[in-house]
Amino acid sequence: MAERIAIASDHGAYELKATLAAWLREQGHEVIDLGTDGPESVDYPDFGYRLAHTIIDGRATRGVALCGSGIGISIAVNRHPECRCALVSEPLSAKLAREHNDANVIAMGARLTGPDMARACLETFLSTDFAGDRHARRVDKLSNPDLQKVTA
Ligand code: RB5
Repeated sequence: MAERIAIASDHGAYELKATLAAWLREQGHEVIDLGTDGPESVDYPDFGYRLAHTIIDGRATRGVALCGSGIGISIAVNRHPECRCALVSEPLSAKLAREHNDANVIAMGARLTGPDMARACLETFLSTDFAGDRHARRVDKLSNPDLQKVTA
């Protein structure tokens, strides 16, 4: 099913962003490209926050967050409880991120994950459903601030 998917990167991953955005469009998705678009140094939190707000506003149903390692931008996206961003480097993690964690953003690192593997991860991420059931209670605790009390 075609979706509106936001994609953002820092300078460490702008080429991977272009590759994945083109592939998403080929698959029939609408892509919201939030930059960056060249090698000039930028700060990954700015792009992670931009992506998070696109998800929170409902302008995109899912997101793809990229930087050199995938670590910095995934931390930035996960500052927003509505976003469940999973940093992955192979398809099994992408599958589990959907089935168990209902991840709505996938993060990858262009220095660590090549374009073919990144595409395989993204394809799995988009085609795997959330398993619900016992996982739903846990996912609620991630994204509902009222359920984030420390009890012990
Ligand atoms: C940028 O040099 C680099 O720090 C960034 O792309 C990322 O790896 C941060 O986590």
